[in-house]
Amino acid sequence: MKVAVLGAAGGIGQALALLLKTQLPAGSKLSLYDIAPVTPGVAVDLSHIPTAVEVKGFAGEDPTPALEGADVVLISAGVARKPGMDRSDLFNINAGIVRNLVEKCAATCPKALIGVITNPVNTTVAIAAEVLKAAGVYDKNRLFGVTTLDVIRSETFVAEAKGLDVADVKVNVIGGHSGVTILPLLSQVEGVSFSDEEVAALTTRIQNAGTEVVEAKAGGGSATLSMGQAACRFGLSLVRGLQGDANVVECAYVDGGSEHAEFFAQPILLGKNGVEQVLAYGDVSEFEANARDAMLDTLKADIKLGVEFVK
Ligand code: NAD
Ligand code: LMR
Repeated sequence: MKVAVLGAAGGIGQALALLLKTQLPAGSKLSLYDIAPVTPGVAVDLSHIPTAVEVKGFAGEDPTPALEGADVVLISAGVARKPGMDRSDLFNINAGIVRNLVEKCAATCPKALIGVITNPVNTTVAIAAEVLKAAGVYDKNRLFGVTTLDVIRSETFVAEAKGLDVADVKVNVIGGHSGVTILPLLSQVEGVSFSDEEVAALTTRIQNAGTEVVEAKAGGGSATLSMGQAACRFGLSLVRGLQGDANVVECAYVDGGSEHAEFFAQPILLGKNGVEQVLAYGDVSEFEANARDAMLDTLKADIKLGVEFVK
């Protein structure tokens, strides 16, 4: 398996590359690309870690050498939020970055599974899809918006609130990846019950968790380490699916035929071709049904912005 990280010299990219170097299956290849000249050095640094994962680093304007033969591409290239900004404020810079990088993926590794981390994810995934369509290589089962950070946050916060072992807590998060479009399905968490007040408070905290980190870093960026962990978990799940492992399920923002929107985050079964099956997200509470319906205008507008950007 060859995994490429685009944006590999950044806060997420370096954390993700470290985790992949230590956790990818033996014999895998890790390919790091960033416009930052330090990137080959990041690869040399990682290459001294004793695991059977070969690391190569590439810098400069053209990601093509990093993408040759890639099975999985994880994209975290772009700018991050500062306090007072919304994820949509990143659109002006990141839209073009994602478009250009996905054009290179389409030309160089059209069959790769692509995981988009760069914000605003609700829109950048739509951009990626339009680019792949224009290149004639779009396969909806191979494109993912990475929303795993919402899942691990939900699991962490629920475990903390209820005094549980976080290893036992599973939370599906549906919708998208910004504000009200992030909807944790707390009513489905096994073995716990929440008061209405707890549901409202936890949901708001999960929706605002990115802002919590942005404010705590006070101008120094947004979540990088927890996102590195989340992207590693998701990337390893993509690899496990490609290798034929059974029952690999993650939530992700996909073009999965949702009745709600063209792209919608929900549980998916991963396999040798990416999305093997889009899974039903199950019964939801009245609070969750209302929150889901209320997010749809925002989500659809985010998607439309991405489609129109490419057209
Ligand atoms: P960062 O500034 O630390 O790193 C970004 C990297 O991208 C830099 O090294 C930069 O050189 C590189 N880059 C910029 N343009 C590039 C290009 N054209 N080609 C290749 N590399 C390029 O930022 P970060 O904290 O790593 O965040 C990256 C992105 O991820 C942001 O858009 C952020 O909002 C997003 N993010 C998403 C999630 C999520 O849950 N999906 C979570 C956290 C952050
Ligand atoms: C997050 O959820 O932490 C990321 O989307 C980064 C951000 O800007 O909030």
